[in-house]
Amino acid sequence: MQSLPDTPIPTFVVDSQEPANVLLADEIAAIHTEHAGRIVLGLATGSSPIGLYRELVRRFQEDWIDFSFVQTFNLDEYMGLPADHPASYRAFMFEHFFEHTNFGPRHVHFPPTVTEDLDAACSRWEETISACGGIDWQLLGVGRNGHIGFNEPGSPFDSRTRRIELAESTRTANSRFFQDADEVPHQAVTMGIGTILDAKRLRVLAFGETKAPILERVLRGDDDPSIPLNALRRHPDAALYIDAAAAAQLG
Ligand code: F6R
Repeated sequence: MQSLPDTPIPTFVVDSQEPANVLLADEIAAIHTEHAGRIVLGLATGSSPIGLYRELVRRFQEDWIDFSFVQTFNLDEYMGLPADHPASYRAFMFEHFFEHTNFGPRHVHFPPTVTEDLDAACSRWEETISACGGIDWQLLGVGRNGHIGFNEPGSPFDSRTRRIELAESTRTANSRFFQDADEVPHQAVTMGIGTILDAKRLRVLAFGETKAPILERVLRGDDDPSIPLNALRRHPDAALYIDAAAAAQLG
């Protein structure tokens, strides 16, 4: 693993996804030990975290890391999909992580997607995060347009959990998880950028050549406030773990 010099957010280039997943799993395990198993994780969906979840499931099965007191908060969820829809983020998390481990069913939290009084439900969700003591360790992926969670470009850096209109490029990128591209919802609920910045540690995984242009804009460009990933410049403990393909334009 190589640390990239002179980046506005600490950035590590890994040979492949595996060492990044092992490193992040080690970090979670260390915090878990330090806090006697009572930690709060912020989690992401998408392609980037699948290997990390596989590594954590392996550790649960082989080394018995106990998740029964761990609380999780997912970054985002689509509006308008039934919870058991295979492309819902709840379904994703159960398939890749929760159903293979011993998470307490009441310890896994997803942003509210109710149609009535959504704003109040979002405020209660934020209060639940605070009541759990805040997020100790937050995992993020990054969209090709620089989104984090579903905070699309232009989202204020102090935004809180709310409903958001998905960018067409995001709908297109995520259509791979749906049988039909028209099925991709137009709206989602996402933790705000301010909510994300409140987490104690932020760790971003970005793999593959499709992430290279946005990483070049963020890590070699100006502090453009319209790019959500740039918000991490303001966090005292944020780091990016990227592979060589994603680092290809960083020189
Ligand atoms: C998913 C999420 C998104 C993804 C991003 C990258 O919960 O919050 O911000 O992390 O779209 O997705 P992948 O990893 O599929 O490239």
